[in-house]
Order: sequence, then C-alpha cells, then structure tokens
Amino acid sequence: MRLRVRPVARLSGRVRVPGDKSISHRAALLGAVAPGVTEVRGFLEAEDCGRTLTAVQALGAEVTRKGPGEYRIAGAGRMNLQEPGDVIDCGNSGTTARLLLGVLAAQPFTTVLTGDDSLRRRPMARVAEPLAAMGATFLGRSGNARLPLAVRGARPLRAMSYRTPVASAQVKSAVLLAGLWADGAVTVTEPSASRDHSERMLRQFGASVTTSGCSVTIVPGDLAGAAVDVPGDISSAAFFLVAASIVRDAAVSVEAVGVNPTRTGILEALSSMGGRLVEAERRDTGEPMATITLEPAALSATEIGGALVPRLIDELPVLAVAAALARGTTRVRDAAELRVKESDRIGALARELGTMGARITEKPDGFDIDGVSRLQGAAVASGGDHRLAMALAVAGLVAEGETVIDDVACIATSFPTFVETMNALAGREALTVEP
Ligand code: S3P
Repeated sequence: MRLRVRPVARLSGRVRVPGDKSISHRAALLGAVAPGVTEVRGFLEAEDCGRTLTAVQALGAEVTRKGPGEYRIAGAGRMNLQEPGDVIDCGNSGTTARLLLGVLAAQPFTTVLTGDDSLRRRPMARVAEPLAAMGATFLGRSGNARLPLAVRGARPLRAMSYRTPVASAQVKSAVLLAGLWADGAVTVTEPSASRDHSERMLRQFGASVTTSGCSVTIVPGDLAGAAVDVPGDISSAAFFLVAASIVRDAAVSVEAVGVNPTRTGILEALSSMGGRLVEAERRDTGEPMATITLEPAALSATEIGGALVPRLIDELPVLAVAAALARGTTRVRDAAELRVKESDRIGALARELGTMGARITEKPDGFDIDGVSRLQGAAVASGGDHRLAMALAVAGLVAEGETVIDDVACIATSFPTFVETMNALAGREALTVEP
C-alpha cells in the first residue's frame, strides 16, 4: 500500500485524535487482572491495542465492545488468569509484548509470545532479565532476548529493587505489573523519568504505588475494576501540530489531547523552536487533557537530549521534519533507543528524509539536522514503521512536488484515521492511499 502526498498551502480546523495508545494498552491489561468490571471510553481502536485485547481474552478476561472506543472488560482477577490455548501474537506491538511479560511472569502456567518481523527483532532481554531475577523462567531465541519467547511464571515472585539501565516505561511497567504478585515491595529506578501512565492507572485501580524522584515502588495487593477515560494520543496529535508549524497558512487545534507532563516534550521542543502554541480547556480524569492550538511561525533549531528524550521519544521522527525546515542546526542526542523501535528510526530518518533533501547526519545516539528552506517531493518508504510513514507524509505536505510513500499499511497500528483527519484539515484530498 502506498500513500501519495501533494503539497498544501493551508491547514485549518479543529480535530480529535484517537485514544492514547499507551493508556489503552494499560486499561486492557489492568481490566483483565482486576476482578469486577472495567469500563473504558476512548480506547484506541488500532492494530496494536487490538493485540492486547485479544491477548487478555486468551487469558480469560471477557471483552465486550459497546460502541466506538467503548469497551467493557470483565476481569479474570489477579489469581484467576488462565493458560492461553495458543501462542499469543503481539503483531507489531512492543508494548503488548513487554507489559504482558510482566503479567505472565507471575502466572502458574506457560505462555508463548511472538510478533511480526519487526517485533521479533526488538530487544526483550530488558524485561526478561529483571523478571527472571524475580523468579520467572524464559526460553527464547538469542539467549531469551527475542520473540518467540516462552515464559513460565512463578508465584509469588521475589520482591526486588531494580535499577534499569534504560529509561523505558515498558521495562518499568513490566516490573511493576509483576510486582502485583511479589512477596514484598518492588521498586524500579530509571536513569530519567519515562511516561507514568502505569503508575497513575495502577493507583486508579486501587494499587499502592509511590514515586520518589525516578524511583517507583509498588506494594502487592488486590485491584478493583475501574472506569477509564482515555485522552487523545499526543503522539498522534504531534503529526498535526508539526504540520501546522510548517505549512504557510495554518491554524490547527487538537481537542482533548493527553498532556501528561511525562509526554509533553514535543510541546516544549516546538516552543523552543519558536512554535506558537496555546493550551486551553484543560481537565483531568486521572490523566490531564487539553485542547492544543498551534499556529505557523518561523522555526529555528533546537537541542534535544537528556531527560527530555523519554518525554518525546515517539515524536522524534516528526520533530525531525520540523527541524529539517528550521533555521540552524538541530542536535538530537541520548536517543539511541530510536534504533530499537519499530525500525532503526535514526537510520531510516537519515535515509528517507535525506531523499527528500533534508540534511541529516546520523550519530550513534541521535542526529544533526541542518535546516533547509525547501524539501523535495520524492519516492520514499516507511520500512513498515507507522511513525516514519506519518512523519514522511507531513514532510510531503510542504515539499515541492509529489511524494509517494511506500509501505504505509503500518499506519493502522496506531492511527487508522490519520489520512482522513489530515485531509479534513487540508480541506481536500492531499493524501491518497493507493493499493
Ligand atoms: C511505551 C513506551 C515507550 C514508547 C512506546 C510506548 C509504553 O517505549 O516508545 O511507543 O506504552 O510504555 P519505551 O518505554 O521502551 O521507551
């Protein structure tokens, strides 16, 4: 499947983006583990979160779709999950695989997880190692570092204080989830703070979770089903916010977007580049959300590194598009994690945006981008990475001539309505999907 992108002179309107992917995964998992009923509104109906729903059904939770994004999950309960009858296919979804491993590490049965070509290349030792130290047994490829991976749980797991070398919410969440079945408190300490959706939602479901600096501690105990209101995904909103900041004539508002401070690095980065950003209509139902408006402005280069990186890690591909057109040299460092996402995003950005005339120099843990005044439409490819596909589409909107992006079916993993939403803002069919 290919996406043909024609340049636009104008983008305007108010849009909503689908529910937050990270929060949707967690709602499905905690809903399955908590006894009683969990009602979720705004659940992301995309392939990745569908994988988690299917997985929790295989573990014994009852899932009912009540309407668009509305789900009722009748939890199996912490001690009553059942052995799945088959291998669980996590598709393209790292969050499904890693968070699920945290739960499975404590179940008294064997489960096998696999995934697509991309996920089978991604590192799993980062969760298997701490979970094995807690008592679970793993058997998998590359020394238990790659899917397919079998896990045989133990109960109780050993209490532990774990210092993770990577700031990863997936690692932190896997260990905290396993902590629900430990024989004492479990603490995870990260080098810098990653997204805290698990901590917030665990508390909402009745767990005892405390945070101190970059350390989080969970004390095992029972959960209870809850009502979860999922805000719009700031990672999806980022494509429109960046597009609005580079299209000449633009006024774009994205409504009800999650603005959890562990995720708003993209807003800070755009502001530091000179982006004109207004936040309004803030409310909070466990996760803060707001309407964000971005108007076009001349962008200048910025520096991204350190603690900011985990707060905008998924937005770096589209931020690279803004940087490609900003005055000066933008430097991104401390972002080696980009190399182990759905694709090697550093290599892919340098190659594909480079084909469109961006001046990107790869670094082991990031890239330098010298801003240019114009990008060129070109034939490029997503490499099966949804965020690359959408970032290249944003680049195509401001390039000279047409851009054709190959391999775009992956967009459905996180944002199935991306093309129609962008076209609504453009007021015409700027993006066309071709078989
Ligand atoms: C996620 C955490 C991040 C992010 C991913 C979703 C999550 O990964 O890139 O898209 O839901 O916990 P890491 O925690 O591995 O950095």
